Amino acid sequence: MSVYPIILSQTMFTHRDNLHYPFEERGLQFGDGVYEVIRIYNGSYYLLQEHVDRLFRSAEAIKLVLPFSKNEITNLLLDLLERNNMSEDGKVYLQSTRGSAPRDHTFPKNVEANVYAYVQDLPRNKKNLENGVSAITRHDSRWDYCYIKSLNLLPNVLAKQEAKENGSFEAIFHKDGLVTECSSSNVYLVKDGEIHTHPASNGILHGCVRMRVEQFSADLSLPFVENSFSVDDIADADELFLSSSTAEVMPIVSVDGTKIGNGQPGKITRQLQEAYEKDANIIRHTV
Ligand code: PDD
Repeated sequence: MSVYPIILSQTMFTHRDNLHYPFEERGLQFGDGVYEVIRIYNGSYYLLQEHVDRLFRSAEAIKLVLPFSKNEITNLLLDLLERNNMSEDGKVYLQSTRGSAPRDHTFPKNVEANVYAYVQDLPRNKKNLENGVSAITRHDSRWDYCYIKSLNLLPNVLAKQEAKENGSFEAIFHKDGLVTECSSSNVYLVKDGEIHTHPASNGILHGCVRMRVEQFSADLSLPFVENSFSVDDIADADELFLSSSTAEVMPIVSVDGTKIGNGQPGKITRQLQEAYEKDANIIRHTV
């Protein structure tokens, strides 16, 4: 992959070095926009339609009019991979903002939304997928509409940074003692063979991988209980795992320095990881 072209509103593809973004851009000045991160395996999208559907839901929720139909954006995204000769594992970052206009809080008139997307390599994190990761817990200080994949990520950024400084992979958010999700992933607790996770309410992002995890659970006859668990429940969990387009189904083996179960990825997490690999058509390359 070499050229990294970008889609602009006018369905233009250009090398990213040629792109000059105005500083009076509503994404930059207000975080006034929405985004998607879409996974690519062996040069093909995973869950493309789900991401496009969510992009339109997010845009509608903030009254942002996208300049494309779902079909048009899907075709542009497919074209983007082809132009990049993308044949590896990667991701596309797509962002749409309310456009470029003189700074004013109210919506600009007659200004078209900006849309851009670009491809990046993203090898699978096999070590973490195999061994599991650690996490910290943090208060969820975000707003009431976390189902919108909005550009406003400051609480997420701060929590993830704290996790990193702590030597952890993720920060698990909780509100009023109940676990919502992580800074950039959904989170699940396994107890007595049941998978518990926060309901797909306004309080969490409805993850595309979460949707699949629900389906994998049904396929494996594992109860998928949309019932928030508490921070205190974590200490008694048999297993804990998270999911996202970049992290996949990732075991969490310790939280705030305390081991989960025996400190190893659990059996149900392993079954779901296997289901994910099958679903995403992941080819395991043995060395
Ligand atoms: N994040 N919750 C939050 C807060 C997220 O930011 C994400 C994804 C998810 C999982 O969603 P999905 O399964 O559709 O990837 C849950 C992306 C990867 C990011 O911001 O980089």
